[in-house]
Order: sequence, then structure tokens, then C-alpha cells
Amino acid sequence: MGISFKEVSHLYPTSKRKVYTVALDHINLNINGTDEFVALVGKTGSGKSTLMEHMNALLLPSDGTVDIFGNIITPKKNKNPKLKNVRKKVGFVFQFPEYQLFEETVLKDIMFAGKNFGMSEEEAKQNALETARVLKIDDKLLTKSPFNLSGGQMRKVAIAGILAYNPDVILLDEPTRGLDPKTAEEIMELFSEIHKTTHKTIILISHDMDLVYKYANRVVVLNQSKIVFDGNKVDLFSSELYKENHLTKPEVLQMIDFLNESMGYTLSYQIYDEKELLEQVVKLHE
Ligand SMILES: Nc1ncnc2c1ncn2[C@@H]1O[C@H](COP(=O)(O)OP(=O)(O)OP(=O)(O)O)[C@@H](O)[C@H]1O
Ligand SMILES: [Mg+2]
Repeated sequence: MGISFKEVSHLYPTSKRKVYTVALDHINLNINGTDEFVALVGKTGSGKSTLMEHMNALLLPSDGTVDIFGNIITPKKNKNPKLKNVRKKVGFVFQFPEYQLFEETVLKDIMFAGKNFGMSEEEAKQNALETARVLKIDDKLLTKSPFNLSGGQMRKVAIAGILAYNPDVILLDEPTRGLDPKTAEEIMELFSEIHKTTHKTIILISHDMDLVYKYANRVVVLNQSKIVFDGNKVDLFSSELYKENHLTKPEVLQMIDFLNESMGYTLSYQIYDEKELLEQVVKLHE
């Protein structure tokens, strides 16, 4: 059981009557409820956020059905199951954190979902404090209004609010955008650790192909509202497909190409970051 799309289309209204933007066009997609690390990629406006917003029923399909852990979501609002069940299973870190934050203080914001899903005040508070510690959110920030934070701090608080209630699936819409490189790396390492230890399914939208190549196990490419590739990252970047879809080649693969071409190495693309590449090269010279 997990998340499954059947012939899902999504239309947004425009300023002109009876004219719509087709943001998703007959999408079919199955994602397991555990043990997947999927990256959704594609150029800006290709439909990534819209697709993700269907994964916890923030949006309803204009056509087709989405099955979220057995909760069948259809275009008809009144026929849909209780969305609270869906939201408890599937946590969403938005592309714009200011849409997600609304409480008086940072601590209350991080506690909100836990309380909403049935934790006692004390349990929600303990979870929130523990998550804030893991994410290195300074104690001094906890009593501040979330709207007085910097963009990067806001993003961390939004991430904490989701991790603190421990959903089964975590949706991340550009989680490292606006963060400094060190914090971005720490946060991605944290998601990677969560994935490895709990086998939770993580679905990540990112424009950063270095992150995608390092962390994802499966890549779904969107182009003009359609899925044009769903599979292995090595296959994607070994073919011309990534270029056709306006994606850049991960830095580590550009280095491998350079070493293979100019130094006569025969390194494979099964090397996922620069540290690993360096280790391989050192090994070749031992
Ligand atoms: N709330 C909305 N109302 C109307 N049109 C929208 C809305 N949100 C998105 N769209 C349109 O739907 C299409 C898909 O947008 P979406 O935000 O899903 O793309 P994206 O791949 O997430 O882009 P980005 O990489 O810029 O975040 C675009 O043409 C966009 O203009
Ligand atoms: Mg988006």
C-alpha cells in the first residue's frame, strides 16, 4: 500500500472564463508506502508541486483518482474520505514555508500537527523540543513569532513541524531552497538518515541534480504536465533524456566524464558524490 495515481489530470482556472491551465495530464504513478526515495524533477512550471499536492489531497484531481493508503480521492469533494487520516500518514513540507506557519510562536507551530493528530500537550511539546534540537533550531527562537525569522530559519521550523509528528511518508518540495550550503547538506543528511533507519518513503522535489543524484533511488521526470521518465538515475543521466528535459548533469558525473576522457579512466556512473569519487580515484593509484 502507498500512493497510486490513475489517469489523473489537474486543471487550474485562468483569468479568462472557461480557459484552463493543464498542470497534470493523465498521470499514472505508483509509489510504495515504505522504503522509497523518489525525486520529482523537471523544469519550472512542469507540474511537480501540483503532482505533490495530490499526494496528500491538498488538491483534488480534475479527473482520475488518487489512492493514498486506501483512501480513494476523486474529483467529487463530498465523496472523499476524511482527509485527516491522509494528512496523518503523509506529511508535506511546502515549497514556501510561510504558507505552512501560522502559530504565535515557533514552538507552538512545531507542536501543532502532533496535537491535531491526537498527542497530549506534553507529548507534542517533548517531540517538538527533541525535533528542534535535532534540526539545531536555537532555543531562543522557540518563543519568537515564526514570521520574524529569516527564510532559512522559517524553512527549518516548517520541516520540524512535519518531522515532529512522525508521518509514514514525507513530501519535500524544494526543502533546501534558501538554506546556506552547510545547513542544506545537514538537512539532506538528516532525511537520508531517517530514510535509512525507519525505511520511510521520502519524495523530494529539487532543481539540484547533485542532491537528486546523491540521495534518490528513483527519479520521476515531468515535462509539460506529463511523466516522461520514471526509473533509475544512472539510466537517466547516461542517456540524452536529461538534456531534453532541461536538467543539468550532476557535478560528480561531469567529473567522471572528464577523468574518463582525459585520463583514460573507466569509472562507472555508480558513484554518487564527490567524496566517493575521490576515494575511488585514490584506490586506483594504490
Ligand atoms: N494556484 C495556481 N493557479 C493557477 N495556475 C497555477 C497554480 N499553481 C500552478 N499553476 C500553473 O500550473 C503549472 C504547473 O505549476 P507547478 O507549480 O506545479 O510547477 P512546478 O514544476 O512545481 O514549478 P517550479 O519548479 O517553478 O516550482 C504552471 O503552468 C503554473 O503556472
Ligand atoms: Mg514547484
